[in-house]
Amino acid sequence: MMQKIPETANVIPSDFVIIGGTGHLSIRKILPALFWRFLDKQIDNKSTIILCDKNINSWDDFLITLKNYCSDAFFKKVDNDKVWDDFTSILKPIQLDIKNGNGHLELLNTLKEKFDTNRPIIFYLAIASNLFADSCKFLRDCSLNVSQSRIVIEKPIGKDKLTAIEINDQISEVFKETQVYRIDHYLGKETVQNLMALRFANTFFENQWDNKNIDNVQITVSETDGVKDRISYYNQYGAIRDMLQNHLLQLICLVAMEPPSFYEADQMRDEKLRVLKALKPLTKDEIQTGQYRSFTDELGNSSNTETFVALKVMINNWRWAGVPFYIRTGKKLSTKASEIIITFKKKPHDIFSKFTKDAQDNPNRLIIRVQPEEGLKLKLTSKAPGPGGMRFFPSELNLSFGDTFSDRLPDAYERLLMDVVRGNQTLFMRSDEVLAAWDYIDPIVSISKEQEPQLYRTGTMGPEDKILSIDGHKWIDPKD
Ligand code: BG6
Repeated sequence: MMQKIPETANVIPSDFVIIGGTGHLSIRKILPALFWRFLDKQIDNKSTIILCDKNINSWDDFLITLKNYCSDAFFKKVDNDKVWDDFTSILKPIQLDIKNGNGHLELLNTLKEKFDTNRPIIFYLAIASNLFADSCKFLRDCSLNVSQSRIVIEKPIGKDKLTAIEINDQISEVFKETQVYRIDHYLGKETVQNLMALRFANTFFENQWDNKNIDNVQITVSETDGVKDRISYYNQYGAIRDMLQNHLLQLICLVAMEPPSFYEADQMRDEKLRVLKALKPLTKDEIQTGQYRSFTDELGNSSNTETFVALKVMINNWRWAGVPFYIRTGKKLSTKASEIIITFKKKPHDIFSKFTKDAQDNPNRLIIRVQPEEGLKLKLTSKAPGPGGMRFFPSELNLSFGDTFSDRLPDAYERLLMDVVRGNQTLFMRSDEVLAAWDYIDPIVSISKEQEPQLYRTGTMGPEDKILSIDGHKWIDPKD
């Protein structure tokens, strides 16, 4: 039966200042997310969205391109152009060069009347991380680091622990930790939060959630796209730093963390940090890298950058000792899907052994589908109906969020941006979490540099497995 999603509460009027406002991230993710929030009336024309960029050539052309990126909203919800005109009326372009300060007066004049109110002023640094320090300095020099200022930054925060420390230090010279929102957009995904609800709003699974009951965990984040126009960035970062250091480690944390006392920012982050600190350092047999065949042609150069990585992650604590977490992510694979699969241990004794073996040997599995077609499936063994004796078949309990809830599920950026306005840091990474993630990842990067990534064909699930087979396991591929 369809459930209506409860109304979302409005947020207070705010000023969003997007530095890099006409760039890739802003036009593809941030502005469409704000448009959807505007459509749902969660923000209105009392808010402003200031787009700062070094060169803003034609505003009209920019708006046409932006409208294309908002096309799903037009397809699903907007039936006239008035709402688009209303939305674009709260956008304001400012030509600004953070390095030499050109344009700062216009920004100051636009914001200064807001200083005496308690409206949040949100500075979103939608630019490369090597510009974070200059941006913070610029904001301080213009006295824009006022008490209601918040700063939003995106991963990757640094290229390794050392550069991450530098970035954290530069930011903390200007902003307090309570003003810093480090986005990992996977934390804003609906099913990722549902994992918290599944574990901590129910008793059923949490009682099974340990090494006595769980045999292994698999996490797959597979993409069909290649690296497209981000090749030069990607060639420096690769799958380990682009995806594993952040999105996949965060998923591991949410599956493995202990229940906090309250769903509250620092308690959640303390528990995630404990998981990161308990990760066992990897050996070279527990890491496999790959590269899709056309990568070097796209780059125009030879390169050892991995576009695929698989790992066997072990967590050194009482709950998880002995349970492998098999993790993989890659580009140009056969399916775009993110899934967490929890495989439970086999039953200790088989009372049906004299009957057909049919499906009864299949272990129970919980499949948490992060995207697309978000939902949960529990794989069970059932008796085939009819008087034919005890025959078994695999069956499943299926909770598809799309079928259960009538409205669209908002994109991760919509939720995260509204949380920044509300001042809720629960779904954002704290600086010590980022550093602990690098502590685990830096040695993996070093080991991977000693390996040649195995080439794989586009449209496959990456190179042939070398990790799970040693343990007698196989990857379970997500369905299209
Ligand atoms: C980004 C990575 O953080 O996440 C990209 O930089 C990747 O390389 C993207 O494609 C995947 O996000 P999603 O939401 O499409 O799974």
